[in-house]
Amino acid sequence: MSLPLSHEISRREVVTAAAVGVAAAGLPPAVGGQAAGSSGSLPLSLTVNGEHRRLDLDTRVTLLDALREHLHLTGTKKGCDHGHCGACTVLVNGVRINACLSLAAMHDGDEVTTIEGFGRPDRLHPMQAAFIAHDAFQCGYCTPGQICSAVAVLAEIEAGVPSHATGDLAAPMTLSSGELRERMSGNICRCGAYSNIADAVVDVAGRP
Ligand code: FES
Ligand code: FES
Repeated sequence: MSLPLSHEISRREVVTAAAVGVAAAGLPPAVGGQAAGSSGSLPLSLTVNGEHRRLDLDTRVTLLDALREHLHLTGTKKGCDHGHCGACTVLVNGVRINACLSLAAMHDGDEVTTIEGFGRPDRLHPMQAAFIAHDAFQCGYCTPGQICSAVAVLAEIEAGVPSHATGDLAAPMTLSSGELRERMSGNICRCGAYSNIADAVVDVAGRP
């Protein structure tokens, strides 16, 4: 028995709606309420290593990809791309973050410091020099993130930012090896150069 025409139309509408739903589910996600797609780019202004940079990026681009793929600052490494390894650590307005977990579009007007901004081969940052002096790396893949984190850790200690280990604002901010390891625990080194990394950081921390 055939269905009335009105039922057939309804069925067609349902199928069409489902197809749109499937298509929508297959699209890349929208970001910040802006529809994703070819027109989903946003002008962006960043200060990177002291230099003013303007970009026009798809809203889904991470800060890590903006730095590496668009500004060609490949010193910042992509390890896991999921916030697990710390290889992508950079400083944003002086605070360390995992650049793979942050969208570039969220950083309009921010100051970003990458490993390229710390020193030059002929004039190394003290933390870079200490890493070399203490052999604080093997393959070197984690090293840019380790150095960015280490510089930020010393700034955090100086500013009295408590470690997650103590969670106590009143706790004295020292650089005991336990505290240092906890503060650097977001930076994984597959080569296991941890004790040399700790030596380098403690060396710099102990300088006047
Ligand atoms: S690449 Fe960002 S945390 Fe691993
Ligand atoms: S030096 Fe190889 S991963 Fe750290």
